[in-house]
Amino acid sequence: MDATQWDTRYTEEELIWGTDPNRWVVSELGSLAPGAALDLGSGEGRNAIWLAAEGWKVTAVDFSRVATERGQELARAAAERLGRDLDITWRVEDVATAEVDRSAYDAVLVSYLQLPAHERRLAMRLAARALASGGEMLVVAHDATNLTEGYGGPQDPEIHYTSRDVEDDLQDYIASGALTVERSGRVAREIEADDGTHYAWDLLLRLKGRDMHKGEVTFG
Ligand SMILES: C[S@@+](CC[C@H](N)C(=O)[O-])C[C@H]1O[C@@H](n2cnc3c(N)ncnc32)[C@H](O)[C@@H]1O
Repeated sequence: MDATQWDTRYTEEELIWGTDPNRWVVSELGSLAPGAALDLGSGEGRNAIWLAAEGWKVTAVDFSRVATERGQELARAAAERLGRDLDITWRVEDVATAEVDRSAYDAVLVSYLQLPAHERRLAMRLAARALASGGEMLVVAHDATNLTEGYGGPQDPEIHYTSRDVEDDLQDYIASGALTVERSGRVAREIEADDGTHYAWDLLLRLKGRDMHKGEVTFG
């Protein structure tokens, strides 16, 4: 889907992803000391707002203007509730081509960014370039196996992947030791529906940045 199609979808639906942060984002990033975070494909901002409320200085990038404006509204409401400002910079840009500062972010989040392989690779490599030494990169998405073994989620096989696919996207970073794989695989997400409990399969990939300055020279 391009930006116009996403804008249409966001215009037609009130709040697609809700306001609660994704559970894997909370479980994986919740114990980190806050720093600078980059949220790629931030949507309506549920994760960016949660991170900012936890004390992170967040840059949220999404090519949907409608979703971004909704995120800004939600952030204003959250700030009012909390009685303090939330530090979020909102950018309406394509994650395959956005200019991001290299080695600048202590956490880089890619949450349910379901893209065809070529665009996904560009986005993942941009995410890796943005990661600071010692930083954490977290990718969560609908796992490819969810299509046949899991509940709900999009049904287009072209935009599904596994954590191994992302490892392949970043193979040179991993092989050189610039990125270390801390966790890679699929996780079951419980969903309560009217007809009972179901399970969706998500991929979860967590990488740690080391010597990311090397990336300025070696990696594209
Ligand atoms: C499924 S939503 C997930 C939103 C958010 N990460 C979350 O977990 O709530 C995917 C988001 O990615 C955005 N997106 C898709 N392709 C993109 C691209 N090439 N550049 C920037 N944003 C993109 C869409 O606009 C949409 O908001």
